[in-house]
Amino acid sequence: MAGSPPVDSQAAGPYERANAGASIMIIAIDGPAASGKGTLARRVAAHFGLPHLDTGLLYRATAAALIDADRSPHDVEAATAAARGLALTDFDEAHLRQRAMGEAASVVAAIPEVRKALAQAQRDFAHRPGGAVLDGRDIGTAICPDADVKLFVTASPATRAQRRALELASRGEKVTYADVLADIEKRDARDSGRADAPLKAASDAHVLDTTRMGPEEAFEAAVAAIEAARAKQIPTAVG
Ligand code: DC
Repeated sequence: MAGSPPVDSQAAGPYERANAGASIMIIAIDGPAASGKGTLARRVAAHFGLPHLDTGLLYRATAAALIDADRSPHDVEAATAAARGLALTDFDEAHLRQRAMGEAASVVAAIPEVRKALAQAQRDFAHRPGGAVLDGRDIGTAICPDADVKLFVTASPATRAQRRALELASRGEKVTYADVLADIEKRDARDSGRADAPLKAASDAHVLDTTRMGPEEAFEAAVAAIEAARAKQIPTAVG
């Protein structure tokens, strides 16, 4: 695997400026498809002045390499080679965020060899000096079980389907709500049912159900949970 993962936010945010010299902070944000974890992770990263990695993009890029080469996402050998050869610097997000890529990403993500090929780059990203925010399915359980703060962001399948249908429509994809809901239910079942690092909340995760929350409220709840975890951590770090 070559290059370094895409970084959304490296600028010092208000928290980092106010807390210069504070200890490393790894924030793991997991949750099912279209739960809003990506948007939340980007905002949290900007707020705390931390780099952010959307780990779903790694699985989407692996899937895209196969689809673009006319290979099946079920092809274990080809999927493993694609994951190992991923160039992490030049992701075409508009391409990777298409509906078909999400579905194929969930298929390649169930292949243990693919997960193994992508794990180290994620761990290296998390353990950068100062910390990082990573969002995905298994960050708090498998990639960073040592994360300082773990959030599990969820919402009802109907709410997630509404949000995803709007997002896909805004990108110009012609989709019906019913199709998107069916995709989400299928992906939830595959992501939660796989043997290797299935989607689930870590036992020490703070669960954030955003079914009845707007993005602002979800962000405020996330920051409050992170601040609370930090407040518990600081006496230990100091003495
Ligand atoms: O978050 P997303 O929808 O972009 O993720 C696409 C797929 O990638 C998802 O259905 C399962 C897989 N994935 C994973 O298995 N582990 C992660 N840490 C992130 C994504």
